[in-house]
Amino acid sequence: MAKTFKYLILGGGVAAGYAAWEFARQGLEPGELAIISKEAVAPYERTALSKFYLDPELPNRLPTLYVFPRREILLPEWYSEKGIELILSTEIVKADLAAKSLTSAGGETFSYQILLIATGLTVIRLSDLGVQGADAKNIFYFREIDDADKLYEAIKAKKNGKAVVVGGGYISMELSARLRCNNLDVTMVYPEPWCMSRLFTSDIAAFNEGYYAKKGVNIMKRTVVVGFTANSDGEVKEVKLKDGRVLEADIVVVGDGLRPQTALFKGQVEEEKGGIKTDGFFKTSVPNVYAVGDVATFPVKLYNELRRVEYYEHACLSARKAVEAIIAAEEGKTVEEYDYLPLFYSHAFEQPWCFIGDNVGDTVLFGDSSPESSFPKFGSYWIKDGKVVGAFLQGRIDEERDAMEYVARVRPSVQNVDELAREGFSFARKI
Ligand code: FDA
Repeated sequence: MAKTFKYLILGGGVAAGYAAWEFARQGLEPGELAIISKEAVAPYERTALSKFYLDPELPNRLPTLYVFPRREILLPEWYSEKGIELILSTEIVKADLAAKSLTSAGGETFSYQILLIATGLTVIRLSDLGVQGADAKNIFYFREIDDADKLYEAIKAKKNGKAVVVGGGYISMELSARLRCNNLDVTMVYPEPWCMSRLFTSDIAAFNEGYYAKKGVNIMKRTVVVGFTANSDGEVKEVKLKDGRVLEADIVVVGDGLRPQTALFKGQVEEEKGGIKTDGFFKTSVPNVYAVGDVATFPVKLYNELRRVEYYEHACLSARKAVEAIIAAEEGKTVEEYDYLPLFYSHAFEQPWCFIGDNVGDTVLFGDSSPESSFPKFGSYWIKDGKVVGAFLQGRIDEERDAMEYVARVRPSVQNVDELAREGFSFARKI
C-alpha cells in the first residue's frame, strides 16, 4: 500500500527545509507533508560542511537549519512538532509523474497530490570518467554530511599528512583552507589558468591565490589528474598529473564536478540547461509538480533569461516562493512572480567574499587587494552597456553588502570608469 501525502518533498536538503518551514508558516495539518531524503538526517546547513563542520576546534553542530529572516533554528524535533513526516535513509529510484507515485530502493511506494522536486546535485566520480586508480581508499567526494564525516575521520587518521584537492572551484577552495587549518600539507590541482575562473577575474584570483600561498597552500594550475597509485592497503599514495608530475597524497578530495539530479524524471518533464524547467512560480511542465533549488532552471526576470544556479540563497527563496504559489493557487489567489537577484557567498580562512548580480562585460577593481595586507578589503564591478551590472566584494563585507545589492539590482549608469575605480565602495553607498 502506498503511503499518501497531500504534499511531498523529494530531497532533504536546504530547499526542502525552507519549503517545510514555509508550509508550516502558511498553516499545515499534521500528516499532510512529508520529506523523503536518502540522507540519514533532517535538512541541515549544507554550506557549513566545507566550513565550520571540519573545524578542528569546534564540535559538530549539524543537523540544523537556520531559517532567515526569522532566524528560527530547525532541529529534527521541529518537524515532529509540526506533524511533518521525515522519511530518511530512503532513496527514490523510480518516479512516475503521471501516476503521482514514487518508489524507493526498498520497494515502498509513496503517492502525493503535489510534488516538490528538491533533489539538488550529485557528484561526478573520477572513476566514472575512467581515471586510472580512482577507486583507491581515501579519495573523497563532497556533497553530503556523510562525505564530510568520512573526510573528518580521515583527517584525524592522517594527522600532518599530505592532501591533494582536485578542482579550483569554491568548494575546493573552502576544503583546501579547512584541510590546511587541520595542519595537512595541501596542494590544489586545477586545469584553469586561475581559481574560480567562471566567476573571478584574474585580479580577484591573484589575491586569493596569493593569500592561499601565504597560508601555505600549494597551487598547481593548468594541469589535470590522470591517475592514482595505491599502497598495499589499497589507500591512495600518489596522484599522477598530465604534465608528468607526481604528488604524494594521504588524502585526495575531489571538490569539483557536479550535475543536477534529474535522471528520475527523464522523458517525463521538460528540461532546460541541464535542469528541470519551471516558470516563475517553480511549476514544471507537469501539473502539480514543482522543482526548486539547484535542480530548477527558472526565469530570471531581471535578465530576461532562463538560468539554473547552485546558490544557497536561491535554494531558500525558490522553495519559499513555490510553497507560497501552491497555497495561493489552492485559495484562488495569486502571488508575485519570483524576481531573483543572483547572490553567492563563500568563506575560507578568514576571508569572506560575496558576488551579486551578473558577471558580464568589463571589470574594474578597487580597494586594497594585496595578499600581504593586514586587512585586505577590495571589490570589483562588472560594467555592461554603460551600466554597473554586478559587484564582487571581499574582506569585511557586511557594511557594503546592502549597497552592492542595490547597485546590482538598479544597474546605475556609469560615465567614467576611472572615476568608478577611484570611488570604489563609495559609488555604491551614494546610489
Ligand atoms: P541539496 O543538495 O541541499 O539537497 C538535495 C537533497 O536531495 C539531498 O538531501 C539528497 O540526498 C536528496 N536526494 C537527491 N536525490 C534523491 C533521491 N533519489 N531520493 C532521495 N533523496 C534524494 N552556496 C552558497 O551560496 N554559498 C556557499 O558558501 C556554499 N557552500 C557550499 C558548500 C558545500 C560543501 C556544498 C555541497 C554546497 C554549498 N553551496 C553554497 C551550495 C548550496 O548548498 C546549494 O545551493 C543548496 O544546498 C541547494 O539546495 P537543494 O535543496 O537544491 O539541494
